[in-house]
Amino acid sequence: MKLERIHHVAYRCKDAKETVDWYVKHLNMNFVLAIAEDLVPSTKAPDPYMHIFMDAGNGNVLAFFELPNSPVMGRDTNTPDWVQHIAFKVDSVKTLEETKDRLVAAGVEVVGVTDHTIFKSIYFFDPNGHRLELAADVGTPDMYQKLDAVKWDMLEEWSKTKRAPKHAAWMHVREFSESRFLGNVPFQPASAPSMRIVKGAWCWRSVFFGFVRICVPCEPTAQPMRFASRRSQGQGTTDSPNASPNARGAGRFTR
Ligand SMILES: [Fe+2]
Repeated sequence: MKLERIHHVAYRCKDAKETVDWYVKHLNMNFVLAIAEDLVPSTKAPDPYMHIFMDAGNGNVLAFFELPNSPVMGRDTNTPDWVQHIAFKVDSVKTLEETKDRLVAAGVEVVGVTDHTIFKSIYFFDPNGHRLELAADVGTPDMYQKLDAVKWDMLEEWSKTKRAPKHAAWMHVREFSESRFLGNVPFQPASAPSMRIVKGAWCWRSVFFGFVRICVPCEPTAQPMRFASRRSQGQGTTDSPNASPNARGAGRFTR
């Protein structure tokens, strides 16, 4: 068995009509289907719902449920609000920038354009509090090949250390190269050993000897990029204490 594609993904919405209007207006998505019942077909439980389907291109469908008889929808408060998001692909950086301008002009708060090297993204929230991303691919075949070659090693290292592996740190060098992200530690290339080391903590690094890889403990000697300093400096970032609830946290790590 091989899956063909995502048939649809479904989230809850506060108001079905407001949601359809918002996605049509801001993301130019077509409203393709509505399903509504007073009983849940699978359980037969009485629970009126409106299930709406929006065309996200290439057969991808984004769906929502409005459930008027359920408590007001919330969110997973144990997960930062930048984490769970829906990302849509656009055709170019030009489209990305034009869409950002249009969203901002319409009063939508937008984070980005964020440079992930292989793609660039903007982030914003829909009226239901779902975080959305628009992404334009800009990677080269060589970049994708390098990333493909390290993905399993990265996963293995992460599973052991719970510290970000640095095999692909080059992806965000440009985003993190501003001095305000670095505190008192001079920026170092991603390949520098100290980038793997966290102050006050032990980690493991992989060392290759010929074809044999062993893991050795690192000495805790330096602190890498200090993301927290961004909040304390409050330099107009979305982590500023004065930022709106929607924006706060959205730019902490922009992906
Ligand atoms: Fe994303």
